[in-house]
Amino acid sequence: MNQYQTTADLIKKARRVTAFTGAGISAESGIPPFRGENGLWNQYDPQSLEIDWFQRHPAESWRVIHEIFYSAFAKAKPNPAHLTLAEFERRGILKTIITQNIDNLHFEAGSQNVLEFHGNSRELICLECGNRILAEKMDLQKLPPLCKICGGLLKPDFVFFGEMIPEPTQTLSFKETELSDLFLLIGTTGAVMPAALIPQQAKRNGATIVEINPEESSYTRAITDVFIQNKAGESMQEILKAFDLLS
Ligand code: APR
Repeated sequence: MNQYQTTADLIKKARRVTAFTGAGISAESGIPPFRGENGLWNQYDPQSLEIDWFQRHPAESWRVIHEIFYSAFAKAKPNPAHLTLAEFERRGILKTIITQNIDNLHFEAGSQNVLEFHGNSRELICLECGNRILAEKMDLQKLPPLCKICGGLLKPDFVFFGEMIPEPTQTLSFKETELSDLFLLIGTTGAVMPAALIPQQAKRNGATIVEINPEESSYTRAITDVFIQNKAGESMQEILKAFDLLS
């Protein structure tokens, strides 16, 4: 059996399948990952996404945020990896996706049970009055965007460095590590805490770990049971094809 067939067989036999995704699953949608040779953190300083720096330098921070999340990449579309996960959910095989991504592509692919560990870039929130507004409803040519109700500073509703992980998302994500017996780890370096703890917790709780990544990650030699060293799009399509060939 090749690794796609092995993974399909594991999915078939699993009691509860969970996917844990990172920026790499969206690479084939045209959104560069954060780390690695063409990583965003080679082009931009991650401090733009630190909450206290953002509050002290809102215009400068928003210039970076707009370039990364609200210009070219905002038009990105789901790729076969997102679509295959949505198909596995539709068939009642994949229970939950825990994603570190804020690009909304899992929802756009049709997945419904998605825990967005780092929030989502869809909405902006006012740091003064808490008013929420869809980013697409704001003119992001004028930065920083200000609340139409109170004039306060608007912030994308995703988790900045130094901010807490939203609840109940964090609790539900760690709960998933107790219930799941098969974790599909797709496109993540495992570089950022506390998200990076989730696959480790799943392993400790007895889950089998299948990792899909063209390169080794911090998980590969530590917890990964099946390492598919390939891109997410082709790998997920091959796994679905192998799954459909099982009796
Ligand atoms: N298919 C699968 N994996 C891929 C692909 C692909 N086509 N292309 C790249 N990758 C892999 C890279 O090898 C790398 O291991 O995706 C991973 C991307 O890693 P990161 O850029 O570190 O992304 P991620 O792990 O999601 O980062 C976690 O860091 O900056 C914060 O909040 C941000 O959620 C993000 C967190």
